[in-house]
Amino acid sequence: MSIFRTLATAGAFATLAMPAIAQTEIKLGYALAPDSHYGVAANKFEEVVLAETGDDFTFRHFPSSGLGGEREVIEGLQIGTIEATIVSSGTLANFVPDTGVFDIPFLFRDLGHARRTLDGPIGQDILAKFDAVGLKALAWGEQGFRHITNNRNQIEGPEDVQGLKLRTMENPVHLSAFNAMGAAPTPMAWPEVISSLQQGVIDGQENPLSVIVSVKLDEVQEYLTLSGHVYSPAMLLVSKPFWDGLSDDQKAAMEKAASEAVTAMRGFVDDVETSGVETLKERGMKVGELSAEQKAEFQAAIQSAYEGYYETYDKALIDAIVATE
Ligand code: PAF
Repeated sequence: MSIFRTLATAGAFATLAMPAIAQTEIKLGYALAPDSHYGVAANKFEEVVLAETGDDFTFRHFPSSGLGGEREVIEGLQIGTIEATIVSSGTLANFVPDTGVFDIPFLFRDLGHARRTLDGPIGQDILAKFDAVGLKALAWGEQGFRHITNNRNQIEGPEDVQGLKLRTMENPVHLSAFNAMGAAPTPMAWPEVISSLQQGVIDGQENPLSVIVSVKLDEVQEYLTLSGHVYSPAMLLVSKPFWDGLSDDQKAAMEKAASEAVTAMRGFVDDVETSGVETLKERGMKVGELSAEQKAEFQAAIQSAYEGYYETYDKALIDAIVATE
């Protein structure tokens, strides 16, 4: 064998012996802009995963519903075509019905009560249920308390929502509450909402300040009523087929990253809960706030919906949530 051939063969073996760098791309989809609470959480998740795992992964973000509505994205995770997402609780009850218990109006007293419940055994038990439906739920995040915006009138009591064409998430718990109030709720995937408001197909919608500010809903909505009628949890999920292919170290990195991501998300929500109303007033929205008595009127108006919630969800679970310190 000539010296050249020997060297060439040795070179080929050296190339073959080099460890393969197999980087896995994580497609991360979410409904809001990169500078929203979801964007902040997505960036933190990427930052910590990369810091913990070196070259194992690359990230590709799909903000502003770039991969479709939240339900479609979650289905993509189940079949393994999308690796990760941050979503609201909007459609989660369609995958794990127990999740809907957190969507019951006027259930949580404040953000602290909600966070302690979700981070405690009640919330963690529900996260574990996602394993059975092709999803790995890594952590609860949040959006804040939801408020009503609309173009018809300011809302001071249940009489002001009669017949109001209000977009709700595709969430049966929210839907029954607005039906009981006498509104005309329309469940709709988020990507259709802005154009439906612009075209007058719906009069209003409801979302937390984090969303109202980030999406600039003031450009298509005149009235904001600080109703705080329901807490809006979020969740950081990864695909179970993707998760099952990870090493233990990679799984630990994802868990650490998810925990830091939701802490960043909650920090962002705290800020916008403080500054959001002023921002929206400056942008020209007419802002009203329900008093404790007015909120009690809404609670009374949805009594029939509560009866349904007690049939769907274990009363002991609801009582345990309310009793969480
Ligand atoms: O209203 C919704 O559907 C959600 O709150 C949103 C805006 C998609 C964020 O998850």
